[in-house]
Amino acid sequence: MEEQKSRRVRLVLFPCPLQGHINPMLQLASILYSKGFSITIIHPRFISPNSYNYPHFTFIPIHDGISGIQASISDVLPLLSLLNVNCAVPLQDCLVRLLSDTNSAGGGEEEEPIACLISDAIMHFTQGVADSLKLPRLALRTSSIESFLAFAAFPVLRQKGYLPISDSQLETPVKELPPLRMKDLPVFNGHDQETLMGLNQLLISMVDQVKASSGLILNTFDYLEQSSLAALAQEFPIPVFTIGPFHKLFPASSSSLLSQDHSCIAWLDTQAPRSVIYISFGSIASMDESEFVEMAWGLAKSKCPFLWVVRSGLVQDSEQAEPVWPDGFLEMISGKGCIVKWAPQQDVLAHPAVGGFWSHNGWNSTLESICEGVPMLCRPNFGDQMVNARYVSHVWKVGLHLENRLERGEIERNIRRLMVEKEGEEMRERVMALKEKAEVCVRKGGCSNKHLGDLIAQIRGVSLQTRLEYK
Ligand code: UDX
Repeated sequence: MEEQKSRRVRLVLFPCPLQGHINPMLQLASILYSKGFSITIIHPRFISPNSYNYPHFTFIPIHDGISGIQASISDVLPLLSLLNVNCAVPLQDCLVRLLSDTNSAGGGEEEEPIACLISDAIMHFTQGVADSLKLPRLALRTSSIESFLAFAAFPVLRQKGYLPISDSQLETPVKELPPLRMKDLPVFNGHDQETLMGLNQLLISMVDQVKASSGLILNTFDYLEQSSLAALAQEFPIPVFTIGPFHKLFPASSSSLLSQDHSCIAWLDTQAPRSVIYISFGSIASMDESEFVEMAWGLAKSKCPFLWVVRSGLVQDSEQAEPVWPDGFLEMISGKGCIVKWAPQQDVLAHPAVGGFWSHNGWNSTLESICEGVPMLCRPNFGDQMVNARYVSHVWKVGLHLENRLERGEIERNIRRLMVEKEGEEMRERVMALKEKAEVCVRKGGCSNKHLGDLIAQIRGVSLQTRLEYK
């Protein structure tokens, strides 16, 4: 009876349409669905989540005004800025329709009014839309607390003259954000002044609109980011719900936008325990051709078996659908290396043959690695990845940071440090301890589990309130 009653409380979710953001949003949706809420996902039309993997959710695409060229995720800043402008009116219209038609997703059964909107923090315009409809909004920030605090500090850092970062100051500690150095700040390189101003505005709006929201949901666990919780509470005086790692409750595979090549699991089955290094740089990061070549030879020279995700767009400015491999490379790695375009990453990291992860330190990848007890080689590319890599290597000490320009000899040395030397073994022990903590956190009575209870209580509370408002 209780279950039936609660299932009729509806939540509307609005993700940021990038792989690293869609995964946690759909995991959160699955978690909340399992707690008895009904789920409606409104999303920009240009990227549609795999609705057939979620037959129990309602998906509503809205007009986003994004053309084919603008939809290029390799230049993510202009795309995010456009989405924040273009989606405002369509989202508002869609919510107005939903609010006035409580039966639209109910299959004839009477639905409760919408309890609240849960939207990605970077989709900051959603706060204004929610306010105009008197609908509470919860923000989901899909990265680490530390990187969020670093973004929140940007206005102060600019005022103090830290930004833009000059080459001579890269090693200088940022005393406001220890243990970050200037080069660990979550900047986006290679952009002109105008784009950087746009980024600044995007970040300021994200932070301001999270502060104006009814609460902040984070895909992390208290034990991991204990040292930042107090600073977060001070900077964001709103309810905060650290309820991760989400993927311990619901895997990311069903929200993958690319098709995952499962043949690599059969290849991993043939490899010795903890012998394989897995390499993936997520869905956006890229490198130039000369780094790609150094990487290929560094992997070959390390003599460690490897599984490498080489997705389309990994190599910058490559017109070719397939990467151009250095002469003799494929022959040299035959039997030692497996290359795929997109992997079932969680299954790969959980495989006993995998002993290390060379990662760009996107937050999902970082958490997935920690949760499988896999130490990392860190090669951050932009934004939050810089902060995550610093924490992985310097605070949690579960990875090595590749900081210089990629060079085959250095790659070979670092792979061997991680995979076969004592240093790597010690990192493995530390990351195994974090894995256990993550497991405890999501169990009944664990801190993430408790915070999830608090989140549900808050949503039920606002649900009552909105029901009264819309009576
Ligand atoms: C983006 C940003 O780049 C990242 O910094 C931010 O923290 C989240 O948004 P992305 O670069 O794609 O994400 O990286 P990440 O956060 O690691 O997310 C990638 C997701 O794709 C992971 O859930 C991972 O399991 C999945 N994945 C990756 C696959 O399913 N297969 C692959 O081959 C590689």
